[in-house]
Amino acid sequence: MTKKHLEIKGLKKYYGSFPAVRGVDLELARGEVVVIMGPSGCGKSTVIRSINRLVEPTAGEIYFDGIPVHSLKPEQLAPLRRRIGFVFQNFNLIQRLTALENVMLGLVYAGLDKKVARRLAEEALAKVGLLSAADKLPREMSGGQQQRIGIARALAFQPELMLWDEPTASLDPILVREVLDVMEELVRSTGTTMLIVTHEVPFALRVADRILLMAEGKVIEEGAPAEIFQAPTSEVGRKYLEIINSEAKDVAEISRRILQPRRSEGKLLPQAGECIESA
Ligand SMILES: Nc1ncnc2c1ncn2[C@@H]1O[C@H](COP(=O)(O)OP(=O)(O)OP(=O)(O)O)[C@@H](O)[C@H]1O
Ligand SMILES: [Mg+2]
Repeated sequence: MTKKHLEIKGLKKYYGSFPAVRGVDLELARGEVVVIMGPSGCGKSTVIRSINRLVEPTAGEIYFDGIPVHSLKPEQLAPLRRRIGFVFQNFNLIQRLTALENVMLGLVYAGLDKKVARRLAEEALAKVGLLSAADKLPREMSGGQQQRIGIARALAFQPELMLWDEPTASLDPILVREVLDVMEELVRSTGTTMLIVTHEVPFALRVADRILLMAEGKVIEEGAPAEIFQAPTSEVGRKYLEIINSEAKDVAEISRRILQPRRSEGKLLPQAGECIESA
């Protein structure tokens, strides 16, 4: 039997009397990539942050590689967190440190020899395509590059599980692409188990082995990307399907407008494809 890499059973979280998470079960096999989607406030961050106890669950069990995370003492959390990478929406780099120093910091803090930390940090920077920016300060980099440093910071620990909480949500649309590309490359090249919270539908459809839809603190639908939006049974699933359909329609309409023949002074202008062929 293959051991479950991550198992969550009956997870609940109350903030005061408010039930933010109302009984979530989730299993991830080693190497599996699962995406969580759902409307704002449905409890996605609370679930993902519970996994390394950034949020203290009210009830439920969490097992990472067989370790009962829910019952670990606070002093036992640091070694666990070194095995689980977390990428936040706000990357919170230290402004007076260079990219390399930001990535090295946690490693040195964890007691690694400086030389080893430097090597691991450089490897991680290379994985996000930013080794050449090692000596730059955060303010000298774009938001997308800063988030890629945030990703390198998590990768440097060579985590077995990566948790991503809306890593592109605070970026402007032009910068979102470069971060998603880096994430997609990591999914393809590393084989690391990943749990990703995102609203990026096409990205989710491309990378996920499984998609979970949440609403009001619960998982309401779950399935392979090809299945989940084909005949969604939930309101949230139908909303995502509407987004997919309307985006596809927009793309078709834009291509039609760009590629349709335009007339200028009675002469038919060449279309995009023809330009390339005749060049
Ligand atoms: N520290 C807190 N104290 C009180 N309520 C909280 C706290 N954190 C979250 N909540 C509430 O719990 C619910 C779930 O929050 P959570 O951040 O998990 O949602 P989310 O699905 O990640 O939303 P978003 O897409 O906006 O990030 C929300 O109603 C939120 O207001
Ligand atoms: Mg959130």
